[in-house]
Amino acid sequence: MKTIKDTDLKDKTVLVRVDYNVPLKDGQITDDLRIRASLPTLEFLRSHGAKKIVLISHLGRPEKEDPSLSLEPVAAALDDLIKNVDFISKVSGPEVTKKAESLKDGGILLLENLRFFEGEKKNDPDFIKSIIDSVKPDLYVQDGFAVIHRAHASTDAVKNFLPIYAGLLLEKEVENLSYAIKNPEHPVLLIIGGSKVEDKQPLIDKFVDLADHILVGGKIAADGYTSENPKIIVANDFDEDGSGAKLDIGPVSTSEFVKYINEAKTIIWNGCLGKVEDPAFSTASSIVAQVIGEKEDIASIICGGDTAGFVEEYLKDHENLHYSLISTGGGAALEFLLGKELPGLKAIE
Ligand code: 3PG
Repeated sequence: MKTIKDTDLKDKTVLVRVDYNVPLKDGQITDDLRIRASLPTLEFLRSHGAKKIVLISHLGRPEKEDPSLSLEPVAAALDDLIKNVDFISKVSGPEVTKKAESLKDGGILLLENLRFFEGEKKNDPDFIKSIIDSVKPDLYVQDGFAVIHRAHASTDAVKNFLPIYAGLLLEKEVENLSYAIKNPEHPVLLIIGGSKVEDKQPLIDKFVDLADHILVGGKIAADGYTSENPKIIVANDFDEDGSGAKLDIGPVSTSEFVKYINEAKTIIWNGCLGKVEDPAFSTASSIVAQVIGEKEDIASIICGGDTAGFVEEYLKDHENLHYSLISTGGGAALEFLLGKELPGLKAIE
């Protein structure tokens, strides 16, 4: 996989696919992990002389233009972090050309939400070509790891028109996730939580040979998940609310989980262990986040939207914790771990 480290960026116009599909509430961004995660690539492009940087992304799942899903607030948030960021409420046409041409010294222009146009999801080559013809880039950078499991115009059809290089976020995600499934140092520990057993069972099945132990908590365990495989350890005590609902794994199971974490050399954690939106039931997940984060000499991968969001929140009040990867990709990371072919990755390779 060629990355932006393998090409000359000096004075180039670079079109970058990012994934700024961030959660919004009342027009406000409630979690900016995906925006912050794109900064190393943007800083690298600037510091290696790229002259014009044009960003494209989707946001949400609109079927047509929808002002509540405009990327304009994302451009403002990005400008707060990295400066010299502009926005245009179009993806192609003469106004885009004019704005792109006016960029200098690593100026950044974010185009409007790709999914306002049906050509994106239809993987229509003409759609991405219209963007390319307007921006006139020298190269394409794929850094939208979270969307590489989709065969869309900006992940797949684009390969027909431009050389594609991986951005630093994509590279980091792929390196860490590949390590976990290809040649991880043992003991390998998979920690599973969350609520939908049908989503998690494929991951458990995939890791049953690969991992030394699999720990199961969260609603799955509370709902009575069982396994006869001695490798699979299911939480069996729970913290309950007043009505008897099991909303977090209890202290005995948490201590047992910590024992396995302390022995592991590679940890993949997917799924919170309790109902973490209620602080009363985030104890087990907090302990697990803390114990994993204190280990600098292991590979630790946090994946799944809720788990990554939880650990990001935890980090706001807890310093000096380290994780090899807090993945920005929910579905993409899962499909990668399951060994599925990802169109956006194939387009680069
Ligand atoms: C995600 O949030 O998982 C990615 O941005 C992909 O979005 P999608 O599931 O709407 O394709």
